[in-house]
Amino acid sequence: MQLKGRHFKTLADFSKEEIQYLLDLSAKLKEKMKRKEEYRPLTGYSMAMIFQKRSTRTRVSTETGFAYLGGHALFLGASDIQLGKNETLKDTALVLSRFNDLILARVFDHSNIEELAKHSSVPVINALSDTFHPLQILADYLTIQEKFGKLEGLTIAWVGDGNNVLHSFMTSAAKMGMNLRIATPPDYRPQDEVIAIAKADAEKYNTELLITSDPKEAVKGANVIVTDTWISMGQDAEAEARLKAFQGYQVTMELAKDAAENWVFMHCLPRKPNEVDDEVFYSDRSIVFDEAENRMYTVMAVSLALLGKD
Ligand code: CP
Ligand code: NVA
Repeated sequence: MQLKGRHFKTLADFSKEEIQYLLDLSAKLKEKMKRKEEYRPLTGYSMAMIFQKRSTRTRVSTETGFAYLGGHALFLGASDIQLGKNETLKDTALVLSRFNDLILARVFDHSNIEELAKHSSVPVINALSDTFHPLQILADYLTIQEKFGKLEGLTIAWVGDGNNVLHSFMTSAAKMGMNLRIATPPDYRPQDEVIAIAKADAEKYNTELLITSDPKEAVKGANVIVTDTWISMGQDAEAEARLKAFQGYQVTMELAKDAAENWVFMHCLPRKPNEVDDEVFYSDRSIVFDEAENRMYTVMAVSLALLGKD
């Protein structure tokens, strides 16, 4: 699989075979790491990690996984570097590419990822933008694959905000042979451009795409019920309006009544009880902590593949 030198901006850029390859590589890395097998293909390699927003999972899984592989990942928080105050994204990309073999970035506007990728001479990994969160969805697929032994033919129900995490499901689920049933409040639907991609993919791969504002309809027959925060990073000023608009969208056992018998619950975390109650979140149905753990193996796989060290 030739992923060397590519940017990892959105799953829309990757084929079914490439995504499956990254998942299989992640599973192999998971086994190696669990065995504490010595494996240091990234000795001498470094990664600059720009974080314009907070992070627990993405930061810790990347630093830990990259160190295991023998490399060095540098955390560059919002007030650590000149970016945003004294220096442009362009110059930052040009300079960091001279020091580092990879640039990972968590940004607000997705155009920041595009700008970094345009000027960087090394691969850029999107660690969450306002529009996409592709690393998260790779981890989600690995977790679903572990749970069900496959992806193809399964139905994912999304209940909540039409946000970055949902967008990354929408740009990949059909390719992987999965149906997607989405419920968002009318004013919080996913972006039209992303709906267009999801529609075209659903037709091409012969999968179901449902977009509704009825959570009960969305979860009907679903194998995986997923939600996320109602207030993403950067949306604090909208909190009051959002809390109002999302009434009735909390994932509960009652809401999941018509899901498939084997349904599981997923959430990228961090979680607030608004969007899912404790009964579901801490139940046997919930695979959220496996999902969090898998963030590590998937970012390791992406790093190795983009560096051609896989
Ligand atoms: N799921 C996720 O990206 O979590 P963090 O914001 O903690 O990195
Ligand atoms: N949608 C959330 C995901 C956090 C991992 C956000 O963007 O804040």
